[in-house]
Amino acid sequence: MDGNGRWAKQHRLPRVMGHRKGVEAVRSMVRALEPLGLDCVTLYAFSSENWKRPQDEISDLMGLMRRFIKSDLPEFLANDVRLRIIGDYKALEPDIVAMLEDALERTAKGTRTLAVALNYGSQQEIARAAARAAERGEVSVETISANLDTADLPPLDLLVRTSGELRLSNFLLWQAAYAEMWFTDVLWPDFTVGHLEEALASFAGRERRFGGR
Ligand code: FPP
Repeated sequence: MDGNGRWAKQHRLPRVMGHRKGVEAVRSMVRALEPLGLDCVTLYAFSSENWKRPQDEISDLMGLMRRFIKSDLPEFLANDVRLRIIGDYKALEPDIVAMLEDALERTAKGTRTLAVALNYGSQQEIARAAARAAERGEVSVETISANLDTADLPPLDLLVRTSGELRLSNFLLWQAAYAEMWFTDVLWPDFTVGHLEEALASFAGRERRFGGR
């Protein structure tokens, strides 16, 4: 969800306002799953490297997370959306962990999924999955995949990156092996369902060969 900081700067607002506006874009994704026929959208909310940011910004982000879970749980339920978390979320503050676990439980029956990556780093996820696979005696593509945080999510088809950045930044590296990519200059707070539709139209026109011919 890149570009919150730049959006705030463009509007001469404090950085936190960019994140706050970014939450509105998250909300529109919850509502868009069903109309767009999407089984799952995964949003990168906080990376394991984001701890390097100033403490003020980290606190703002955690505050937004708390508020979002509290205020938007009804939206999840009304839209039949299940919350999933990927990443080492249990290392977050205990009250957030408790709120997340309550939301996970209450939305568990949702037919579509909004996955949120929290304290997530893809290299760390792969290392954890490989270690678990090794403990169980077999390290292979299948056993690593089965131990990733995303094991119960559908395969990654389309990866969207906002704000003109052209890199993966430790997000879903394993899962992106054959994903289609879509890059846009649009900053996350300006990202609408219309932009997502644009990305999906581009995806629909692609020929996927998965290495075959
Ligand atoms: C990247 O923009 C955005 C983040 C690191 C935080 C995203 C988090 C939220 C929108 C809030 C909470 C999330 C949920 C799911 C409720 P940036 O700060 O790197 O912006 P820049 O690239 O313009 O500096």
